[in-house]
Amino acid sequence: MTASLEVPEKMQENLASPNKETIRGFFNDIASCYDQINSLLSLNLDEYWRRRAVSLVLERGVGEKNILDLGVGTGKFLKRFLPERSWKIAAGVDFSSGMLQQAEKKLPAQCGLIQADVHDLPFADESFDLIISSFTLRSVKDRNRFFRDVRRILKPAGKIAFLCLTRPRSLLGRALYTPYLKFYLPFMGGLISRDPKAYRFLSESIQSFPSPSEIAKELKFVGFKEVLIFPFTFGISTLIRAEK
Ligand SMILES: C[S@@+](CC[C@H](N)C(=O)[O-])C[C@H]1O[C@@H](n2cnc3c(N)ncnc32)[C@H](O)[C@@H]1O
Repeated sequence: MTASLEVPEKMQENLASPNKETIRGFFNDIASCYDQINSLLSLNLDEYWRRRAVSLVLERGVGEKNILDLGVGTGKFLKRFLPERSWKIAAGVDFSSGMLQQAEKKLPAQCGLIQADVHDLPFADESFDLIISSFTLRSVKDRNRFFRDVRRILKPAGKIAFLCLTRPRSLLGRALYTPYLKFYLPFMGGLISRDPKAYRFLSESIQSFPSPSEIAKELKFVGFKEVLIFPFTFGISTLIRAEK
């Protein structure tokens, strides 16, 4: 008699917090349709959030010269910053080769695209004036270590800006958003991308992600100052901005 090696459903990996290889696999699999599905599922709000974020990030201080996007994906966030300043260095990091291939098509050749894990940033101390990241913080396993490392590679008085998918704060907002998050998002995302696990990860990781004020506390704990929270669209997306 042969024993079944199939892992029971309940014992399979928790999709709210899968391992790095699983996450990388998700993004490689959906890279070619990532932008279209995002726009469809968010009713194009993702573009509005990126645009709002750019103006809030650049409203203070004009001295930015070197910019880095962590989890650059297909390059949509970084691309919005490029025309706003004459950057000396503009770079993006991502561990998914599929996403980086899409970014290459979108970003000018001068942008440095580096395949690396954001848990292990390959940069010297005090390299960047501005570090941005959109919709990637949910994938970070050890935020304490990550925030310390981000601070290390940031120049004195440098800024960070993390755009995150969050949950509405009001009870009514939550009541309306929860069915979308729990059922519509994984169902439609899985159907269109033909990768149901990737969109279950999206849904479950948003549900288990800490609130913006908890993230703000974590940033202060590692030494960031001027930590500000900007909720967008009833709080389903939030920009967290801070300074070194
Ligand atoms: C939800 S996508 C966001 C992409 C892009 N920033 C945007 O606004 O559309 C998250 C990106 O982060 C990357 N990512 C996730 N975890 C990572 C890690 N540990 N190291 C490097 N990149 C990571 C994924 O490959 C993916 O491209």
